[in-house]
Amino acid sequence: LKWQDPIKSAQLYFEKFPEEKTPVWTNPCQDPRHQAILPPTLNCTNMTLPNLLILGPQKTGSTALANFLTLHPNVSQNSPIPGSFEEVQFFGGANYLKGIDWYLSNFQNASIIFEKSATYFDNPVAPKQASSLIPNTKLVVILQNPTQRAYSWFQHLLAHKDPSALTAASFSEILEENPPETLRKIRQRCISGGRYVHHLGKWLEHFSLAQIMFIDADELRDEPARVLTALAKWLDLPDFPFETHLRYSPSKGFHCRLIEGKTKCLGESKGRKYPKMSDVEREKLDKIFGLDNSALYKFLRKNRLKIPNWLEESVRIRA
Ligand code: A3P
Repeated sequence: LKWQDPIKSAQLYFEKFPEEKTPVWTNPCQDPRHQAILPPTLNCTNMTLPNLLILGPQKTGSTALANFLTLHPNVSQNSPIPGSFEEVQFFGGANYLKGIDWYLSNFQNASIIFEKSATYFDNPVAPKQASSLIPNTKLVVILQNPTQRAYSWFQHLLAHKDPSALTAASFSEILEENPPETLRKIRQRCISGGRYVHHLGKWLEHFSLAQIMFIDADELRDEPARVLTALAKWLDLPDFPFETHLRYSPSKGFHCRLIEGKTKCLGESKGRKYPKMSDVEREKLDKIFGLDNSALYKFLRKNRLKIPNWLEESVRIRA
């Protein structure tokens, strides 16, 4: 045995095991050794850890789902986080290093405490980090036609004046197999989130299928009250008349909350107005997602889960 300066020995350790540089937070209340040294601010009888995560992916209607779910009196969402579209973005993100205290400080007690971070779904480390801290949480994944999702994401980048997106001559250019260097990352970001089965595989390494609810994005858009009622039932929440609190707004083109007789819609970044995707772009994207969609179809069928119409259609066209 030899004495080593602790800082040096830590440096040596992390050189040897770089993958351990990021700690993995577990629930301190489930380990007696941790419980014994908890700060008095952390109350194990009243832990406000979420029991529901809405995983996204981005551009699937996740904000609408979260916003409408909070109508239920027994549900509480995280307090808004400035700078990240109000999302906590804890698992798999920079906020993870802020620690459990920080995470907990965003929530208030309720039967269902939830957060929606649409960055989670296709994040490679989020499943492990989430299951380490909240192994029994329920998860929601929204299945949007990946072709539509990719286009919506591109429009989002344009609206945010993303410098690379602005260099694209057209959306079609991004979809080329080998786009110019500046557009490669955008192509990847448009496509990645729609590769459902690939990402689901990672979540299913850490969670059981029974913990996940799949929502069809088209149903959520067209009949949000029905979707919310089914979700509330799955969450064992008391019945709630979502239909009396939601109203379709012809000017917005989407359902909105109804407050004192007036519709309160999501902000202009949700349900944007932009030109329709061209048939050529649609065909290119459908081809890109062909194998992923077939895999999703098989996965849902095998597990006797409902197949969205858009997926039936896309698999039928390919056959
Ligand atoms: P577009 O703005 O491209 O139409 P997310 O919140 O996951 O980023 O998803 C944004 C998308 O939610 C919007 O994309 C819109 O199509 C969809 N959406 C579904 N229901 C909505 C609603 N009630 N209000 C606004 N957008 C809604």
